[in-house]
Amino acid sequence: MIIRNEDIEDQEAVREINLNAFPTDVEATLVEKLRSSMDTISLVAVHEDKVVGHILFSPLRIENDEESFEALILAPIAVLPEYQKQGIGSKLVENGIVECRNQGHSIIVLVGHPEYYPRFGFISAEQNGIKHPFEVPEDVFMVYELIPDALHKVNGILKYSEPFEEFF
Ligand SMILES: CC(C)(COP(=O)(O)OP(=O)(O)OC[C@H]1O[C@@H](n2cnc3c(N)ncnc32)[C@H](O)[C@@H]1OP(=O)(O)O)[C@@H](O)C(=O)NCCC(=O)NCCS
Repeated sequence: MIIRNEDIEDQEAVREINLNAFPTDVEATLVEKLRSSMDTISLVAVHEDKVVGHILFSPLRIENDEESFEALILAPIAVLPEYQKQGIGSKLVENGIVECRNQGHSIIVLVGHPEYYPRFGFISAEQNGIKHPFEVPEDVFMVYELIPDALHKVNGILKYSEPFEEFF
């Protein structure tokens, strides 16, 4: 299993993965809109020359009355159904975190399953001063510090990018 940056030639396979992993084409389309409208970090998992998993990180902001902070959002992540539960999703998250850190980012947020993401070090966003723009259960809204104390000075409300606004 290799985790590497997505190439242009992988885009069709990535669309197929998202179409297969999610009930509708919403996530597949979201990936395309995000990828074409901003700098993203997009990684694929490759097994025997076949692209079987994908993870995307894209920029958004955390804002309060005085300040605006940059962050990344992890979404979506998808593994082909027949390859799930073999650790591929975990490798994508772990390698994604390293890549985000290497590219100089400081915070990752996500809305996801509360039993999955804490194992990678994600913690409650609400309890760390970040509010979600609309109501979500507290335990699904999480944040990850890529550099020590990155969260210390950050507080505010999440401001999603336009492709996400359309998604909601
Ligand atoms: C989420 C996903 C990427 C995980 O990939 P994976 O390769 O199966 O992940 P791993 O093998 O590393 O980890 C499997 C673990 O994740 C858990 N898991 C997977 N999807 C989950 C979900 N939607 N909710 C809760 N737990 C989930 C499994 O139960 C398993 O738990 P365990 O380790 O305690 O047994 C994959 O299941 C998937 O593509 N799901 C459909 C798309 C999706 O829901 N994406 C997340 C929202 S953006």
